[in-house]
Amino acid sequence: MSQATTVGGQYAVIEKPPVRSFALAPHMTDYEAMCQGFQWANMAKELRLPRANGVNQATICIDDHPPEVMTRAALLWHGADNSKETYTFNDLKRETNKFANVLTDLGIQKGDRVFTFLERVPEHYIALFGGLKTGAVMGPLFSAFGPEAIKDRLEDSDAKVVVTSVALKDRLDSIRQELPNLERVIVLDRGQTGYEPEAHEVLYHQAMATASEDYTVVQTDPDDYSIMHYTSGTTGKPKGAAHRHYAVVAQYATAKYILDFHPETDIYWCTADPGWVTGTSYGMFGPWSQGVTSLVYEGGFSADNWYKLMQDYKVTVWYTAPTAIRMLMKAGDEVVTNYDLSSLRHLLSVGEPLNPEAVVWGQQVFGKVFHDTWWQTETGAMHICNYPCMDVKPGSMGKPFPGVTAAVLDDEGKVLPPGEEGYLVLKPEAPSIFRTYWNKDDLYQSRFKDGWYFTGDKARVDEDGYFWFIGRADDVINTAGHLVGPFEVESALVEHPAVAEAAVIGKPDPERMEIIKAFVSLKVGFEASEALKDEIKQFVRTRLAAHAYPRELDIIDSLPKTRSGKIMRRLLKARELGLPEGDTSTLED
Ligand code: WT7
Repeated sequence: MSQATTVGGQYAVIEKPPVRSFALAPHMTDYEAMCQGFQWANMAKELRLPRANGVNQATICIDDHPPEVMTRAALLWHGADNSKETYTFNDLKRETNKFANVLTDLGIQKGDRVFTFLERVPEHYIALFGGLKTGAVMGPLFSAFGPEAIKDRLEDSDAKVVVTSVALKDRLDSIRQELPNLERVIVLDRGQTGYEPEAHEVLYHQAMATASEDYTVVQTDPDDYSIMHYTSGTTGKPKGAAHRHYAVVAQYATAKYILDFHPETDIYWCTADPGWVTGTSYGMFGPWSQGVTSLVYEGGFSADNWYKLMQDYKVTVWYTAPTAIRMLMKAGDEVVTNYDLSSLRHLLSVGEPLNPEAVVWGQQVFGKVFHDTWWQTETGAMHICNYPCMDVKPGSMGKPFPGVTAAVLDDEGKVLPPGEEGYLVLKPEAPSIFRTYWNKDDLYQSRFKDGWYFTGDKARVDEDGYFWFIGRADDVINTAGHLVGPFEVESALVEHPAVAEAAVIGKPDPERMEIIKAFVSLKVGFEASEALKDEIKQFVRTRLAAHAYPRELDIIDSLPKTRSGKIMRRLLKARELGLPEGDTSTLED
């Protein structure tokens, strides 16, 4: 690979060597050629779909591999306390069968919603696939969520059962009374003894101890819902983007050609949590539909921990996020030299724009560039990406996956020529594209127009067909790869007794891409002070989630509003960033 250079301040194209010189031949050897002949249906055929019980992601990912794959490690688990566990596909088949029986005993039937609110522990993966076997629609929740965030999601989805842990259940307990449809709570008592379950609770290990290892996976059709992830928009609370079992066709294909798995030898590490779509589509469905060994690390981020982990497990394919890469860059190039990372073969990133410096840094310290991938909760699988065989333009998201049509449209819905900025749209052709927003089908339908799916992003495409991310077309904030809707944070803010009104913006940040900044006005009788500001910030942090609280908060006399009473977030943002205020003709006096 040639050394990256800058030409007149621009990053030069990083040319890939001929694929025949690769130690392991990539599955995609010629991007253009593959685009010509690609058909999703052929991917379904390769996956041997449909199978005897239709299309079920658990059957495909866990149960139904050839014998030599079934004895392979599926999950290498490394605990926060450095304890280790290994599960082969056979082990996962047995455990997920047992868990499916546990859920069936609790009355769970096809179509019921079952949510998981767990740490990154093996039982999280077991519960998810056990649930899929029953035909339930699974909803994984991020373990950092506070009561408010949990309540919104369980209420909207009408979840019947939640699987949580002794450590996390307090946050659920505080809102359980407000969830009349939540019948039972399964409590994971991992490492804890002596926990006495309440009447509505079932202890995980007790129930699993007596559950049968035999289970016949419920028949599911390609279009049956399998999993839902809540994602933020500009208005309203987060919406449940629901996916179908057939999504596995896209997860399988993209895992093969983009993650470029070689299942016999790969050790793959996806750093995302199962509470987010990357953690399921590529922490579970992608690798396991391919029979690939996947590493799960329960612990948090530190440069030393991460490098040591990759050295010790001989990780070959690493899928991570720009924020993490920037933090590693900050930790310095020196620390990398303490570890043997020669096993690394392919590096990828998702979640936010990957700055060109980070792409090039990968090449400097690991001898491999980071391959940026663009997609969303709604797309269910990678859509615009960089491929092992294709030259990388640092800073570009890459080109549409074969089988994906992407374009940039103007305000009138016309396709724009190269170089012009507009709305990033896709033909909703990939098997993984979401099938509804739960209970909000109108909103779902509103995302499609003239045969295009509107992603909510702005982009441009260059003469060579590479896509470049410009920004969001809406007010949604991307903080360290997590989307946060301003309304969600504002709702939590106004629940504080001192807060009269609130508005929230994303403020550019070198490490996290954006941080959340709040502006609040106080109710009569409250005095602004640093202590009150801190109190309000912490209030949101504990109720919503650590990543969704405002790191900065200003108390102002009143918020700028339109005459119809809508808070003008854009004006606050312009003022904060010292930018032109734009059209303020609708501003109230
Ligand atoms: C939004 C989707 C599915 C991955 C996890 C995030 C932004 C995502 C990139 C990228 C620039 C990116 C977009 C997108 N985004 N990947 N490679 N370059 N921006 O899923 O929470 O649904 O967020 O994240 O704005 O629409 P999500």
